[in-house]
Parts: sequence; structure tokens; C-alpha cells
Amino acid sequence: MEKVELGWDEFWAEIFRVRHRQAIQGIEQYDKLVVSFIIEVLNLKKGSEILDIACGAGGHSIDFAKRGLKVTAFDIAKSLIDVAKKAAKEEKVEVNFYAGDMRDMTFESQFKAAVMLSHSFGFFNHEENKRVLLGAYRALKEGGCLLLDLINPYNLPKFQKTWTQLDGGFLLNEPHVLDAPAGVLIGRPAMFIDTEEDRIVLMDQDALSNNDIRMYTALEIQEMLKEIGFTKVEFYGQHILPRVPYASNSERMVVIAHR
Ligand SMILES: C[S@@+](CC[C@H](N)C(=O)[O-])C[C@H]1O[C@@H](n2cnc3c(N)ncnc32)[C@H](O)[C@@H]1O
Repeated sequence: MEKVELGWDEFWAEIFRVRHRQAIQGIEQYDKLVVSFIIEVLNLKKGSEILDIACGAGGHSIDFAKRGLKVTAFDIAKSLIDVAKKAAKEEKVEVNFYAGDMRDMTFESQFKAAVMLSHSFGFFNHEENKRVLLGAYRALKEGGCLLLDLINPYNLPKFQKTWTQLDGGFLLNEPHVLDAPAGVLIGRPAMFIDTEEDRIVLMDQDALSNNDIRMYTALEIQEMLKEIGFTKVEFYGQHILPRVPYASNSERMVVIAHR
């Protein structure tokens, strides 16, 4: 079998964010609960403007739009934006989807809310991560909120080597590894046995680096957000209702920062 190395946008984005995600049992229902949590906790009303930063294949954005919000959403992977646009058309909702880099946001005081879901924060070095938060801060109106839905750094999932059967082949996920001194969760090198093309697909350097995540503690995040200008920062331990306080053994670390 031929072996090829492919990048995030050209191959892996679709495998992970569309095919692999769709194979997770109950994911659609779960996403709806996440959207309900956000609408309730951020006090969003019909017509409120929301920015979905790193929207992936757009599932949450489409649900927000169905609930009457005015949604702008972007992701670095054009392949995912194409999938998201097609899904929005099929669902007959309007979402302003576009391909873009979260480090280059130029919005000014436009949104009531901005969200980064399924741990979409911490992909870069510390300065760049801060720049992302600053871009989100500027995008919000006075009184608007940024919500970060993060893995709890004190309660990392038990990552395991897994084989998953997907449309068109088999995906092997190696477990993430925590580089503790650096505070970086090193992304999984994955392999896809592509039975349609009769080839083995590996991740190239670009696809691999897309998976590395700097893990921040609550105190570190709070300090960054306050430095940028956010006035109040709250933490919750899960991203579905009812609200639960954040603790060391929480499932998630949900951060809400008020501008
Ligand atoms: C963990 S996924 C989450 C996707 C989506 N929010 C969800 O919940 O399904 C992270 C996303 O970040 C995107 N991404 C990575 N680097 C980015 C960047 N510099 N700017 C915008 N999006 C980026 C990836 O393409 C991927 O879709």
C-alpha cells in the first residue's frame, strides 16, 4: 500500500472534524445541550450577534442560527468552511461563514458573545495565544462575553490508542502526551487506512502542529484575560446545564470573560 503524508486542510480537517466527529454516538444531541447552555448563561436573545471562533464544520454555528441568533463563524480550514456552508444551506439557515485565522481578527465592538468550543484555544505560543484573546475582546461590545470551553488541565481525559471505522477507511489515533514542563498537550499522530484510495495517510508537519495545545490553568487564563481588559471572569465545571462550579475533577473548564 502506498504511504502519503497530507496536511490539515487538505485531508485531516475533514477526517477529524467531520467523519470522526459524526461517528461519536449522541454528538448532535450533545451539541444541542452545549448551545442551550451558552444561550442561557450568556443571556442571548433572538437577534443577538455571536462569533464562533474556529467553528470547525459549523455544527454549533448552525444550531445558534436555528435558535434565532445572528452568527458569524470562521475556521482556518477552508475545507471545513465548505462543509459548513453546504450544511447551512441544507438546514436553510443563514450563517456568515468564512475561512480565516484567529490570530488576525479585526472585528470592532460588534458581538454580544464570542465562543471557542471543543478546546479551540492554546494552539500557539503564549504571545500569539494572548493575541487571540485580544482579538476576541475587541470583537465584543461593552457588556459582551467571551466563552472558552476547555479541557480541564487538572483532569485530562484518559487518552488511549484507538482504531475507529469511518466512511472510507480506518483511523488510528495515538494518545496525546502531556509535556508537563512546557504545559503543552502534544497532539496525536494519526494514521488513516484509506480503503477507497488504497493508501495509508499520515500527518505531515502542518497537520501534526495543528494538534498541539498549550494547557492553561484557571489562574493563568484569568490573569491573561484581566490584563487584556476583561472586567470579570467566571468558571464552570461543565458546558451543559445545570451550571456547576469548576473544581479540580470537573469534566471541563468553561471560562466566561465579561467585557
Ligand atoms: C478542536 S477543533 C473545534 C472545532 C469546533 N469549534 C467544534 O467544536 O467542533 C479546533 C478547530 O480550530 C481550527 N483552527 C486551528 N487553527 C486555527 C486558526 N489559526 N484560526 C482559526 N481556526 C483554527 C481547526 O481547523 C479546527 O477546526
